[in-house]
Amino acid sequence: MPTHFIRVTHARRVSLCAVAVLCLLWLAISCQTPTKPAAEQPHPWWQHAVFYEIYPRSFADSNNNGIGDLNGIASKLDYLKDLGVDAIWITPCFPSPQVDFGYDVSDYENIDPMYGTLADFDHLEKEASQRGIHIILDFVINHTSDQHPWFLDSRSSRTSAHRDWYIWRDGKAPGQPPNNWLSTFGGSAWQYDPKTKQYYYHYFYPQQPDLNWRNPAVKDAMFDVTRFWYKRGVSGFRLDAVDTLFEDPNLHDNPVLPGKDAYGDPIEENKYNDNLPEVHDVLRDLRKVADQYSAVLIGETWTDNIAELNRYYGDHNDELQLPMDFLFTMVNKLSPAEFRKRIAEVNSASGWPTFVISNHDIVRSYDRYGDGVHNDQIAKLMAGLYLTLRGTPIMYYGEEIGMKTTPPTRREDVKDPIGRRGWPKEKGRDGERTPMQWDDSVNAGFSQAKPWLPVPPTYKTHNVADELKDPSSVLSFYKKVLALRHSNEALLDGDYIPLNENDQNVLSYLRSYESEAVLIALNMSGTGQKTTFDLSSHGFSSARALIETGNSTANGNTVTLEPYGVFIGELTK
Ligand code: GLC
Repeated sequence: MPTHFIRVTHARRVSLCAVAVLCLLWLAISCQTPTKPAAEQPHPWWQHAVFYEIYPRSFADSNNNGIGDLNGIASKLDYLKDLGVDAIWITPCFPSPQVDFGYDVSDYENIDPMYGTLADFDHLEKEASQRGIHIILDFVINHTSDQHPWFLDSRSSRTSAHRDWYIWRDGKAPGQPPNNWLSTFGGSAWQYDPKTKQYYYHYFYPQQPDLNWRNPAVKDAMFDVTRFWYKRGVSGFRLDAVDTLFEDPNLHDNPVLPGKDAYGDPIEENKYNDNLPEVHDVLRDLRKVADQYSAVLIGETWTDNIAELNRYYGDHNDELQLPMDFLFTMVNKLSPAEFRKRIAEVNSASGWPTFVISNHDIVRSYDRYGDGVHNDQIAKLMAGLYLTLRGTPIMYYGEEIGMKTTPPTRREDVKDPIGRRGWPKEKGRDGERTPMQWDDSVNAGFSQAKPWLPVPPTYKTHNVADELKDPSSVLSFYKKVLALRHSNEALLDGDYIPLNENDQNVLSYLRSYESEAVLIALNMSGTGQKTTFDLSSHGFSSARALIETGNSTANGNTVTLEPYGVFIGELTK
């Protein structure tokens, strides 16, 4: 996998007397006014929302050309609403040569004809908002396509109006790039352009030149893009590859580490072209614009630790509301200890947590955790985990039906360029981007034409239509947990309290809100478990099942879990 995807008083003198008076006043008010139920308390909408990532090429194809589109998404809004989704994040659907399947944008203020028109977008937005579903767009902020008019002008001459909108430098010596920086997609990060005899910088593919965020004109133009979409009803953005916005202006070489990557390149520490502090100035300003529209900013932020994550929330919570920490995506085994550690870390962060277990760049959770025998049970286990934690979950399409990663088996079938370049070590990301499995008809009901990527054979056993009818399916389980999550105050707002922290097999915790609490017990092992909890120390005596899988049950303060079983129960006094 590419490194990008592997990898984070002013003192005021107040007299004691005044403080005491204020405290008394506060006590008097709070004794008289009963605390409102959580659901009635003012919360930014995105804290209680469930987000769902849609890869538009692969979701639903309304015009039967083998590629999904906006009208296809609109036709599935009722499904999403019924599932319990409150916001959809659509990965880039703007005009693009599609070298990186939309992450190479050639016009930020339009829709690619393969996905529809601006009128289709407006229709989708209207239909979504009628159902209370927010739309989040993907803002490719670090780079444009090399076909964007800004870049075409930039490369046309050294004195063009847009020359300084990108990063152009002379080579170190004839035939040598300006420094040793490598593209995360393989090879040098510098591309020589014979016309003007300079190199331009690209963190990703050469067709994705990096914008020069030190140029105020770039900032103005890109900020205007967000305004354009806010005015069209968009509720926020997922900011693509946001840690790569800035580079060291002195172009110091990156330190080289031992070993080679999947492309045969040396491994580098991205010390001088990743996570530079200047990114936070941009994010603070971008947030000011977002706040004018009550919008949410989600970050693709690859942080290595909580200190880095906190920086993305901002010192005054004035940057990203939902920086994705990706910590779960880096846990590849069912280890209660590992999850406990990650959850505790995220809960100690300075902002509201976000939980992600799959996306369009990484192997699906179904395969990362599945043991090949109990995969459906494990898919439910993972849902039982990330949908019951304190924070905002971001689902990935198909996760709710147990979709499997299905990578190409032959190099000639690979669509994602990194898969062709890195084959066979790096097979690319096609496997996690296959068409959504709607039913067991031809092409899984995704399209009547041959889909752009093959439909995995599992569509016969894992598809929406069949799973909706089966009360024990992965989909039915997701629906139950999401419904509970939307109505249960403890799950929405309760504190996270870890239980039995030395248990090697069962991950368990309370979500506790005022006098209510929900117990979640997740058996991460392939053998049945019987677990006893000290509920009395939390003021409760027993648990009553709300949702459980198979034969998992509770008796008093003891929960019996089947292999990979889930128990979610309400605690009673
Ligand atoms: C982000 C996207 C990924 C894309 C890259 C370049 O990491 O998630 O799909 O290839 O940025 O835009």
